Amino acid sequence: MSTDVRPGADLSAFSLVGRSALVTGASRGIGQAIAIGLAASGAEVALTARGDLDKTVAAIREFGRTPLVVSADLAHVDDASAVATEVGSRMAIDIVVNNAGVIDRRAALEITPEQWNAVQDVNVTSMFFVTQALAAPMLQRGAGKVINIASLLSFEGGLRVASYAASKHAVVGLTRALANEWAPYGIQVNAIAPGYIETDNTAPIRDQPDRQAEITGRIPAGRWGTPADLVGAAVFLASSASDYVNGHVLVVDGGWQAR
Ligand SMILES: NC(=O)c1ccc[n+]([C@@H]2O[C@H](COP(=O)([O-])OP(=O)(O)OC[C@H]3O[C@@H](n4cnc5c(N)ncnc54)[C@H](OP(=O)(O)O)[C@@H]3O)[C@@H](O)[C@H]2O)c1
Repeated sequence: MSTDVRPGADLSAFSLVGRSALVTGASRGIGQAIAIGLAASGAEVALTARGDLDKTVAAIREFGRTPLVVSADLAHVDDASAVATEVGSRMAIDIVVNNAGVIDRRAALEITPEQWNAVQDVNVTSMFFVTQALAAPMLQRGAGKVINIASLLSFEGGLRVASYAASKHAVVGLTRALANEWAPYGIQVNAIAPGYIETDNTAPIRDQPDRQAEITGRIPAGRWGTPADLVGAAVFLASSASDYVNGHVLVVDGGWQAR
């Protein structure tokens, strides 16, 4: 039995110095905050999105690092494998944060197959193929971290978001399946389920004062989250402090689920 427990603050297990991370959907919102947070904790970072990544790059440069930027549209599943392969050829990626995601708010009876597939392609299928492309070298090295961004709608149904709820339930299933398969090889696959966070994703809800007040009133913390609220969970799951955490969904929701 190991008794190697040192009282006192040895925070080196949380350091990401010497690690390299890819963050998808790093142009804004949660992905941007996580990318900056990983860099602040010492990681070299690669960023991908369709849009302008300049603000994320500028923030990371303040920590003396220059991120690798590769543009990709993860609605095209072939792009997912291609971008991951390109990043993997230029950096030995230890940490993958699968954050890019889209939501489509409409009544279930109105959803076309194209609209359904557009959500699954970004939120689940590209998540899988980005991970697959970067996992092989991790398996060879015997170490790696995969962090998938889930949602409260990985556990709940929501209203008029059937394609999104289905995709986020799938994210948890995928997280657990890969965790089981790769734990013996030293790779930890986990998820973070954000609660209600102030980003473009939730702008349509926050634009409805009654709905916003109703949600705020149900959050024990008494406020919506900000992207920065997700950074601590991401750094933990990216670091060796979480080396015995496998297939877990870390909920960061101000207490919503505890209510
Ligand atoms: N906000 C919340 O309350 C909340 C709650 C639970 C879960 N989440 C999840 O958290 C993740 C981040 O969401 P967010 O709230 O930060 O939303 P956001 O501000 O809308 O950001 C979404 C990110 O995903 C990228 N993205 C979207 N479609 C893409 C595509 N086809 N190809 C490549 N990148 C794409 C966007 O980049 P470009 O547009 O530049 O491509 C952007 O960087 C998502 O998975 C979301 O489902 C959010």
